[in-house]
Amino acid sequence: MKLKNKVAIVTGSTSGMGRATAILFAREGAKVVVTGRNEERAKAVVEQIKGEGNEAIYVLIDTSKVEDAKVLLDKTLEAYGTVDILFNNAGSLSMSPLQEVTLEEWDKVFNVNVTSALYLTQLVAPVMKEKGKGVIINTSSVAAYAAHHGFAAYISSKHAMNGLTKSMAWELGPEIRVNAIAPGAIHTAMVDSIGGPDVLTHMIEGCPLKRVGQPEDIASVALFLASDDSSFIDGQIIRVDGGVEA
Ligand SMILES: NC(=O)c1ccc[n+]([C@@H]2O[C@H](COP(=O)([O-])OP(=O)(O)OC[C@H]3O[C@@H](n4cnc5c(N)ncnc54)[C@H](OP(=O)(O)O)[C@@H]3O)[C@@H](O)[C@H]2O)c1
Repeated sequence: MKLKNKVAIVTGSTSGMGRATAILFAREGAKVVVTGRNEERAKAVVEQIKGEGNEAIYVLIDTSKVEDAKVLLDKTLEAYGTVDILFNNAGSLSMSPLQEVTLEEWDKVFNVNVTSALYLTQLVAPVMKEKGKGVIINTSSVAAYAAHHGFAAYISSKHAMNGLTKSMAWELGPEIRVNAIAPGAIHTAMVDSIGGPDVLTHMIEGCPLKRVGQPEDIASVALFLASDDSSFIDGQIIRVDGGVEA
């Protein structure tokens, strides 16, 4: 078991790649804190983890309200007394053309995708520093390497996430390692919200491996980054995208 007795917070783990990662981390021995806004899905993830004989709780937070991070850390410490791994994975998509992005939408996307990760990290880092070891993983995107019409807020937030990841790595070492995963097209609710089967077909055609990724493709890389298998990897943005040229 690669994460035996570790405590892991996985934001955005009520569905998609966060859910797959929470389940995998628990199978590898971690006590997992599942988060999101949807209680029914949060409960279902915890039930699945417990049904497999592993350990998890859920904490409902809305990461567009950055200060919710305090509740998350408090409840984590109350339940498990510490935190070893933080996966800043919650994400919100916005599909407005540049000239139509409202400031409210821009703020929401940045709060969910970047600012909440900064604030949660600021709260969690002292706990990790105190114990002399910790791992933080952020979720970037191939959108951090290109621009496409209609995704200005989302693309900008993921570019920001790369800078934040590198800054975190510089400033939180040597105790804390920080890396990010930049997924390509992964078949989750987020991708389904972009469009129908034509969108998936287009993504598959544009991928050298001729498939979309599955949430488990991200979970296995998150496990690698969370475990000592990656103990000399720091400040990196790891693309997990089937080889697409963004
Ligand atoms: N799918 C892709 O192709 C792809 C590609 C590149 C990057 N990404 C990134 O990967 C990450 C995970 O996305 P996914 O594809 O797995 O999508 P998903 O299945 O839609 O999951 C998104 C997760 O984020 C949570 N979330 C969203 N807004 C939130 C809010 N305001 N407060 C709290 N939690 C919130 C959702 O929980 P609730 O609904 O319960 O609130 C859910 O658990 C995101 O950062 C996304 O930007 C995805």
